[in-house]
Amino acid sequence: SRVVKLAVIPGDGIGPEVVAEAVKVLDAVTAGSGVEFEKTPFSLGAARYLETGDTLTDADLAAIGEHDAILLGAVGGVPGDPRLKDANIERGLLLKLRFELDHYVNLRPSKLYPGAAGPLADPGDIDFVVVREGTEGPYVGNGGSIRRGTPHEVANETSVNTAYGIERVVRYAFSLAGRRRKKLTLVHKTNVLVHAGGMWKRIVDAVASEHPEVDVDYLHVDAATIFLVTNPSRFDVIVTDNLFGDILTDLAGAVTGGIGLAASGNINPDGAFPSMFEPVHGSAPDIAGTQKADPTAAILSVALLLDHLGLTDEAARVTRAVEDDIAGRDATPRSTAQIGDAIVDRVQA
Ligand code: NAD
Ligand code: IPM
Ligand code: MN
Repeated sequence: SRVVKLAVIPGDGIGPEVVAEAVKVLDAVTAGSGVEFEKTPFSLGAARYLETGDTLTDADLAAIGEHDAILLGAVGGVPGDPRLKDANIERGLLLKLRFELDHYVNLRPSKLYPGAAGPLADPGDIDFVVVREGTEGPYVGNGGSIRRGTPHEVANETSVNTAYGIERVVRYAFSLAGRRRKKLTLVHKTNVLVHAGGMWKRIVDAVASEHPEVDVDYLHVDAATIFLVTNPSRFDVIVTDNLFGDILTDLAGAVTGGIGLAASGNINPDGAFPSMFEPVHGSAPDIAGTQKADPTAAILSVALLLDHLGLTDEAARVTRAVEDDIAGRDATPRSTAQIGDAIVDRVQA
């Protein structure tokens, strides 16, 4: 039987709560399937930092890199915790994993499932995927500040954009659009960010000439936020830079029924490194420990993981179970574990 080595990083806040449910669903869908997931837990995040002072050691990174895939909950400690003042877990752990494992495609699908409690009165069919660049842009940490503590403080964050980095993610987005409804929207801010935006536009135009079947469109990011609310069904594949993609995908989560449903994959399409699957949301310190978190985003991230590993039947079963669960939702409150159990039941049915 096939063995898949899975690194599991529950993380902080609601991370462990939602990952527990995602793992239950993974176990249920793979039971008796001939595929065995061998899971290695990694204790990483604010809790680990407070215990040991480590964020992500070289040994952790090497050990994680030995796996076939990674499932992550969320990381980030309680805001304002003075002991975390110098930690920056997000950069030292999450972004470090994305960069070191070359997760250049941050894949964030948004679909409005029937029954999902979205905020739009007349949403239409919403089914699009944001292909967010994952290794460049303002996220690289190329910045600095001087004269801190004086009125003359200066702070810079440089957005790093390479032709190589843009082209590879743009190619992925075109190929995805070719397999979907054949519509690709580049989102940037070319009217202001003329250098980076201009390069994104030129690369999209060049790759477009190889994909005559794909209809290409461009929106400035501010206008894109309008259409995500007023006419989200116009989108099929959105390709955009790291920071714009971060912002748009929280909005996309909100319009499709809440951030508790939004899944993502940090993909290394070349397969040189393990890809990492995680909900779009964070550690939600405001509800952590209360079993109020919706584990659906983590569970749908398992579906993306299964798909990535070529286990398409298992992925489809998880997605269908989630769809049915959402379709049956009413106002009755359910705990994190109750939602997970209900989805497990549907997977087993
Ligand atoms: P957040 O996504 O954690 O929370 C935003 C709001 O959404 C909160 O009201 C929260 O209760 C709600 N929410 C989030 N997930 C939910 C779920 N599954 N079910 C129901 N409600 C949910 O964003 P934030 O508050 O900006 O960030 C909190 C911490 O998480 C910060 O430290 C941030 O850096 C970190 N973060 C980590 C990740 C990650 O690990 N991938 C992603 C985003 C934010
Ligand atoms: C996300 C998160 C991260 C990001 C943070 C926690 C670094 O918001 O995964 O969307 O900005 O990418
Ligand atoms: Mn985000």
